[in-house]
Amino acid sequence: MKILVTGGLGYIGSHTVVELQSAGFDVVIIDNLSNSKIEVLDKITQITGIKPGYFNFDLSNKTACEEFFSNNNNIDGIIHFAAYKAVGESVNKPLMYYRNNLESLMNIMDNMNIHNIANLVFSSSCTVYGQPDVLPVTEQAPRKQAESPYGNTKKMAEDIIQDTVYSSDLKAIALRYFNPVGAHPTALIGELPLGVPNNLMPFITQTAAGIREQLSVFGEDYDTADGTAIRDYIHVVDLAKAHIIAVKRLVEKNNKLDYEIFNIGTGNGYSVLEVVKSFERVTNTKLNYKIVGRREGDIEKVWANTDFANNELGWKAEKDIDEMTASAWKFQLALK
Ligand code: UFG
Repeated sequence: MKILVTGGLGYIGSHTVVELQSAGFDVVIIDNLSNSKIEVLDKITQITGIKPGYFNFDLSNKTACEEFFSNNNNIDGIIHFAAYKAVGESVNKPLMYYRNNLESLMNIMDNMNIHNIANLVFSSSCTVYGQPDVLPVTEQAPRKQAESPYGNTKKMAEDIIQDTVYSSDLKAIALRYFNPVGAHPTALIGELPLGVPNNLMPFITQTAAGIREQLSVFGEDYDTADGTAIRDYIHVVDLAKAHIIAVKRLVEKNNKLDYEIFNIGTGNGYSVLEVVKSFERVTNTKLNYKIVGRREGDIEKVWANTDFANNELGWKAEKDIDEMTASAWKFQLALK
C-alpha cells in the first residue's frame, strides 16, 4: 500500500511518515519546504531505515499537481497535512491562507477524482469548535465562527471535503487535533518553529535553553482553577498513530460513513501553569516566566471527548503530560 503524505517533512507529517513506514506502508512525500527542512528526510530515514519518496512542489500549483498525479498512479490513500498554520499571520495575510490551504486541497481532490484515489485523511483542528458550550467537547458540538482566517480554512476545508465526498466516490476522515506537542523518542524529529514560536511548548523549551529570555503566560483571570487557560495537549507520536489507524480504516473499507470526523486528543485538560510545572518537574529546573495579559483570540478552555475515537477507531492516546514535556525538552537539547 502506498500512501501520499503532503507536508510530510513538517512537524506532525514527519512523525506520521515514521509510523506509516513502521506499519509497513510505502510512503511518498510532497513538501515544498515552506515551513520545514530537507534534513528531516534524512532523519526519517535514520529512524526507520527506509527513505521515503520525496517531491518538492507547491500543491496550490494546479499544473504541478496534475503532473505529479499523472506520473504517480499507484497511490492508495492520501494524508493531507500541507497547510499554513500560524494563527496571527493568517489575520494579516488572509488571502495567502485561503489560497494556499484551500487551493491545494481542491487540487488534490480534483486529482483524486481523476485518478480514482478514494481515500483521504485530513488534518483538521479543534479550532472549529471555538469556545465550546459543553466540555469535554464531542464531534457533534456546533462549529463556531472562526477566530482567524487560519481557523476558517479548517472549517471551509471540512465543508469542501464533505460536499465532494457526497458527490463522488471519495471517502474521507477528518481528524480534529487538539494541541500537538512533544517529539519522537529518538529526538531526531520534532517541532521546528520558524523564528519566535507562537505555541506554548516550543516557547517553554526555547526559554529553558536560553534562546528566549522569558515565557509570557497569557492571562491568569480565566475561569479555571489557577486562572490560566486550559488545552488538551497530545503527544505528537500518539497523534501520528491515529493517522495510521484512520488511513487503514479507509483503505480496508472499514469506515461506516463516507465522511467521518474524530476528535484526537487525550481527553485531559491542562492549564498553562500545569504545563510549566510538568516541564519544571521533568527537567528539574525553574522556568523563567511572568504572567501577562490575555492573548487576543485565545479561548478559555477546551478538551476533547475522545469516546468516539477510542471506541470506533480503537485508538487511545497513551503518553501523559510529563512524557510530552520531557520529549520536547530532549528534542530541544538535541538541536544544540
Ligand atoms: N501560551 C502562553 N504563552 C505563550 C504561548 C502560548 O501562555 O508564549 C498559552 C496560550 O495563551 C494558550 C496555551 O498557551 O492558552 C496554548 O497556546 P498555543 O499557542 O500553544 O496553542 P493554541 O491552543 O492557541 O492553538 C493551537 C494551534 C492552532 C490551533 C488551535 C486549536 O496552534 O493551530 O490550537 O485550538 F488552531
